[in-house]
Order: sequence, then structure tokens, then C-alpha cells
Amino acid sequence: MRTVDLIQRKRDGEELAPEEIEYLVDGYTKGEIPDYQLSAFLMAVYFTGMSDREVSRLTECMLRSGESLDLSGIPGVKVDKHSTGGVGDKTSLIVAPLAAAAGVVVPMMSGRALGHTGGTLDKLESIPGLRTDLTPEQFTTQLKEIGLCFIGQSERLAPADRKLYALRDVTATIESVPLIASSIMSKKIAEGVDALVLDVKVGNGAFMKKQVDARRLAQMMVGIGRRVDKRVQALITDMSQPLGFAIGNALEVMEASQTLQGAGPEDLTRLSVELAARMIFLGKQSATLEEARRTAEKKLVDGSGYRKLKEAVAAQGGNPAALDKFELLPNATGMREIPSPRAGYVSQIAAEDIGTASNMIGAGRQRKEDQIDPAVGVILEVKVGEKVDAGSVLCRLYYTKEDRVDEAADMVEDAFRISSQKPDERELILEVVG
Ligand code: URA
Repeated sequence: MRTVDLIQRKRDGEELAPEEIEYLVDGYTKGEIPDYQLSAFLMAVYFTGMSDREVSRLTECMLRSGESLDLSGIPGVKVDKHSTGGVGDKTSLIVAPLAAAAGVVVPMMSGRALGHTGGTLDKLESIPGLRTDLTPEQFTTQLKEIGLCFIGQSERLAPADRKLYALRDVTATIESVPLIASSIMSKKIAEGVDALVLDVKVGNGAFMKKQVDARRLAQMMVGIGRRVDKRVQALITDMSQPLGFAIGNALEVMEASQTLQGAGPEDLTRLSVELAARMIFLGKQSATLEEARRTAEKKLVDGSGYRKLKEAVAAQGGNPAALDKFELLPNATGMREIPSPRAGYVSQIAAEDIGTASNMIGAGRQRKEDQIDPAVGVILEVKVGEKVDAGSVLCRLYYTKEDRVDEAADMVEDAFRISSQKPDERELILEVVG
């Protein structure tokens, strides 16, 4: 078999045989197929897609690239949650402790920043000392002890996804239904969950811009789960504007902490409670979804979700005090205000541009080997539908280096549309699949 022939056949829209997919995934994971050839293959998939048979095989090969954890020795239903990626989407930091505080065992395997979106691992690692590169043994011990653990893919768990994810991030091959579905499902199956709640984002700041594509992605992942006997439920949720007010790693940790203390933005709080409720219900900690919603709200209001997050942070070497004293988190050294050019209603905040601008000043990576700057990002002062005066502050840009601040500020400014008419309200939770 020759890699170039497989690239060519995929480029021409042919279906590859299971052993051909296996050859590509194994070869790349072992370092036998170079980045440039796999990049070309990913681009071919981006343009021509994959059949269900190919996606199933791709997921299976990525899963088999490493170990699969057996969590059956830990009592209780193990439920994880994963988002397909958005801007300002820090719900994992909120829903995982809420569900764990309600008695669900939450093994949370997350990813890093991808394209214009942020990653839970990068956000968590802005907490001084916190480590997410735990061994499978440390992971299972922590789950047994406190019911919640955050980890990333490693050399041992779904290493193929880890390599492919990093390559897709810098080769413009993220926005592909089969590549996203196999990436998410391979690592979730590898970590040994019983059930999974998915937040499939749709809109300007998501990888899926149209609801019909988001639905296809949701259905594909629910189907993959069904074939391996995992209960998967997907919410399709709006990502046409950033979620909450904060965008950027440490800034999002601060907002997640405030939300767990009952002082979070309305949209972020509402979505987090709904996702946590679905986890609580699938985790069999409530008889009905309605009861699960009440439990999730209670865990937020009584502070037990917040205490659970602190417990997990401490167990993973992080300083839990940083969740109260934000000066212990990395802080920006410079700030620029973006004023409204006119009076009117905020009718659009293009989430993708806000995410891209935030990455430009260091919140994400331009190349695989780049280090992110945890301190930088954007804080919105307004959300879609709000009335503003000319010159009032729309958002603030936080930075540590001057390099690309002007460019980022222009992009952020252009992300806002101010109209004379109040825009129609958009639903936050659009559909449930599964
Ligand atoms: N999240 C993932 O884990 N993988 C993707 O491809 C996109 C979002």
C-alpha cells in the first residue's frame, strides 16, 4: 500500500477499505507517515467526506491506537460531557463538578485549543501547578476518591487523536463532520465511560455553521455510541455569539469559578445547569430529567459544585485558592477598550472573529509547538440584544505583548454589529438528539 495512492483515491471521492484507513492511522501514529502526507489526506477528507463505514473504522483505529481504560471497578455510572468547540465555552469546568457533586462519576477527558476555539485542558492549566497529564492509574484513583478527574489524551490513551488533533489545528482541517465525530468518540470510548452528553455547537463561532450539519454530526456521534453500547445524548446549542462574557484561558477559569458561586452570566449558567442535569439523569442519580435539573441547580446554589472543583484542582496539583483569589492566576499586563461607534442595539457579536483575535494575541496556537499565553483574551461588556450608547465600551482586550494588539483590536471591533432595531432573541438550546 502506498500513502500517496490512498490520498489520491480519497481526493477523488472514493471510499477507502477498512484496512486502508487502518494503514493510515497506524502509520501516522507510529511516525511512519509524515505530517505533510497526512495533512493532504485530511484535506481530502475535508472536501469529500467519509462514508459511515469509513467513520466507524477511523474511530475504531483511533481508539485502538492506545489503551482503553476499564472503569468497571469504580462503582456508579461513569458519565462524561464533551463540546464540539466554541468561543467562551467553559461549561466543562462547571458541569463536571456539578454532576460529580450530585454523585455521578465524571471521567473528563478534554482537548486543547482547536482553531479559533478554546480547549478545556489549556484553560485548566492556567491554574498554577495543575497537571492534566496523569497516568491511567492516577486517573482511576482520583475518580474513586473524589468522583471527578480532568485529563487529556496521552501517549497511552487515544494517541492517534492527540496527533491528528494537533495536525488538524494547523492545517485548516477541523470543520469536518467525520473528523470531529471520530476524534471525540474515540477518546470518549477509550476513557471507559458508560454514557456521554455532547454539546454540539452551531453558528458563527462553531465548526458547524448550519444546524443541518450540526444535526448530522450529532446523529453520527450518537450512532457511534450506540454501536459500542454507550448511551449518548446530544444537545445542539447556539454559538452565534460567545458563551458568557470571558474568552481566554485564565479569564474563563475566573468566569467558571464565579458561575459555580452563583454569580455567572445567564446564558452560561442556564446551559451548564441543563448539561449537568443530563449527566445526572444519564448517571442514574435522578428518576426524571426534571428532578435532575433541580439537583443541578441545588448543587450550584449550595456551593457543592464549586467545592468539588476545588477538590479536583487540589488533587491534580493545582492551587485551589486561585479560584477565589484571581490574582493568583496569570494576569494580563495591558488592556484596551473597544468603544461602540454609534448608539443602538448590539445585533451581532461574531464569535469566530472574537476567538481568532484572542488567539492572535496568544490565547491559542498558530503552530503545533507554540505555547499559549494563559493570561490574555477578551471580556465582553455587552451581549446581543443590549442597548449601547455611542462610545460606550463593547469589550476589553487583555494582553501581555504589544505585537498584534492593533490587528486583534480591529478584528474585535469589526465583530460587533450595532443596529437601530432590537434583534430577535435566539434560542440557546436548539435541539436534543439521542
Ligand atoms: N473536539 C474534539 O475533541 N475533536 C474535534 O475534532 C473537535 C472538537
